[in-house]
Amino acid sequence: MTELHIIEQQALEKINQSSSLAQLEEARVEYLGKSSKLMNLMKTLGSMEPEQRKTFGAEINIIKNKLQEIVDTKKAAFELQIINAKLMSEKIDVTLPSRSSPQGKIHPVSQVIDEVTAIFGTMGFSVAEGPEIEDDYHNFNALNIPKNHPARQNHDTFYLPNEGGNTMLLRTHTSPVQIRSMKLGKPPFRIISPGRVYRCDWDITHTPMFHQLEGLLIDKDIHMGHLKGCIMEFLQKFFAIDDLPVRFRSNFFPFTEPSAEVDISCSRTQGELKIGGGEDWLEIMGCGMVHPKVLRNVGIDPDVYQGFAFGMGLERLAMLKYGISDLRNFFEGDARWMEHYGFSSFDIPSLVGGLAR
Ligand code: DAH
Repeated sequence: MTELHIIEQQALEKINQSSSLAQLEEARVEYLGKSSKLMNLMKTLGSMEPEQRKTFGAEINIIKNKLQEIVDTKKAAFELQIINAKLMSEKIDVTLPSRSSPQGKIHPVSQVIDEVTAIFGTMGFSVAEGPEIEDDYHNFNALNIPKNHPARQNHDTFYLPNEGGNTMLLRTHTSPVQIRSMKLGKPPFRIISPGRVYRCDWDITHTPMFHQLEGLLIDKDIHMGHLKGCIMEFLQKFFAIDDLPVRFRSNFFPFTEPSAEVDISCSRTQGELKIGGGEDWLEIMGCGMVHPKVLRNVGIDPDVYQGFAFGMGLERLAMLKYGISDLRNFFEGDARWMEHYGFSSFDIPSLVGGLAR
């Protein structure tokens, strides 16, 4: 056997015996590396006769290529083995329960806004918005509450510096959205407007900022029966009580005529409040037929179009439906309160799934 074939035999043996990438690399360096016996033999080619150089050179090359090919194949096999082992050890068990991390909650006011929007949405109402920084024209005058009107005193308004001769303020109710919506479009109108309102007040049932929902429907031949039907349907859906008794009690609001306050029946046993079917009543909202003066203020002829409006406090709805006792907690940002009273983002209100939780 020539020296070349001895080297080939040894190399094949070492390569085939290697059982890891590292051992394989060791064999490669030993038999194919720069200072390997094979390379040293190649270096002797220069001193050979041309004929001998040709045959011997070709022989070395064949063996070198053969060894390199075996190394490459084996290397690929080892690498595949490593990847497979990694995949096996790192496989993810999708059935494992997730690690508990703090989860955000939906604030009860946001939840109630979603619920009322879903209910009025099915009755064809769409959501309108207005600015929280208002002028006294939209907040008061256009709603038939002139300067020095006693109704202005009840509102404990936060006034801001005048702007361009206009008295500016933080809106005290969502009713100015009625004016802005009617001025922007043409009748018929069917809008609700949830949003923040501000009054200078602070006790167990009052916070300087709270939320209201305004409603407005303007069309031809609208009468009080439509108002009653719409509001009863809403309250029965919202509280998820089909036969919830609802009472309309006459009242005064400057922007509606006639006006009413709406009560729902309740019972109070040993201090515990239960909505629906009782001997007591709970005031829940104000409403009425839009005053002809308000319609004229926005350029609508009250002899052609009529309609109704309503307004309610959203925290109050949340407190009654979800048994929350202190209004002030709504805005204190206490994570423990949110954990208790907040909603999961999966509690999406739908008429199919039921609006009550
Ligand atoms: N804006 C009234 C308030 O804040 C609530 C209200 C009452 C709104 C009657 C209305 C309504 O649209 O018709 O006290």
